[in-house]
Amino acid sequence: MQQNYQSITWQDDHLVILDQTQLPLREIYSDVNTIGQVWDAIKKLKVRGAPAIGIAGAYGLYLGVRDLESKNFTSFNVELNRWIEYLKSSRPTAVNLSWALERINQTVYANKDKDLEEIKEIILKTAKTIHDEDKRVCKKIGENGAELVEKGWNILTHCNTGGLATGAYGTALSVILHADDDDKDIHVWVDETRPLLQGARLTAWELKQAEIPFHMITDSMAGSLMKQGKVDMVVVGADRVTANGDTANKIGTYSLAVLAKENEIPFYVALPLSTFDLETDTGDEIEIEEREPEEVTHLAKTPITPKKTDAYNPAFDVTPNKYITGFITEKGIVEPDFKKNIKKLFEK
Ligand code: MRU
Repeated sequence: MQQNYQSITWQDDHLVILDQTQLPLREIYSDVNTIGQVWDAIKKLKVRGAPAIGIAGAYGLYLGVRDLESKNFTSFNVELNRWIEYLKSSRPTAVNLSWALERINQTVYANKDKDLEEIKEIILKTAKTIHDEDKRVCKKIGENGAELVEKGWNILTHCNTGGLATGAYGTALSVILHADDDDKDIHVWVDETRPLLQGARLTAWELKQAEIPFHMITDSMAGSLMKQGKVDMVVVGADRVTANGDTANKIGTYSLAVLAKENEIPFYVALPLSTFDLETDTGDEIEIEEREPEEVTHLAKTPITPKKTDAYNPAFDVTPNKYITGFITEKGIVEPDFKKNIKKLFEK
């Protein structure tokens, strides 16, 4: 399976990101040289999708500490933790960001007796490892998920969960790519995903490249299609899954899950283990990012509401575990009882 684009690349001494705010009209690769630029790219969704945010954050942390001239480990560690908190503040919901940063923090601590220049190199190496691992993990998610797909199925997906949102292939989209690769003759319904149109702009762009048949639909069409028997499976990604299986994902996911249950359609969440947050018990405790109202009142910078219209813009919602058929992970499919089986996943 060939993918001719990379959302994130480490090139010599800096990051190169495919600016996702410009797609599908322009394919612009931007140089990112400082931690401030990484923060800004994450905040503005130039790089987006839970695993991709984690990868970018990891490289960003290296860019932040690279030129530090700390006298000893203690003062270096204070600066490191300051940068970690700074990067975490860019977007709160996707746990992959704090997961990647904490992984680096722990690796640094385990090497605290080493020379500071060597520690900086270890940080870069860990960022590269997180990036490479994500590519392998996403491939495995796709292979595992494709086994659930039957020939000729119509699969509905929401937001963008492809190579753009990860190191490569994606999560939910990797399932779709691999099912297609296995000659399952699938067709995809792509939710446009209001308000920022990740489905229309990005998933459609990725499916075109992969030459997989699809139709774009507005978000509100999904229920009607399900009722007419035109959807065989829903597969989405996740930004954070708590210990009991409650799932935060792009706003609109909850409605899809309820509609899928009502219409007896399997509803799967595809994700890497790095998206589980076992320290949080239920979805009620997840912080949901609220974004600027202009994203709702404007379309591509053009106003679509009367002047001074108030708008509410939560970027994610939480789907209670009872609506989820299963989780597709790199370690296989997790079925209910989720609390027990998610725990087991990390014990293996
Ligand atoms: O706001 P976004 O575009 O970063 O939201 C992305 C999603 O909700 C994805 O479904 C999720 O991050 C999984 S990506 C593999």
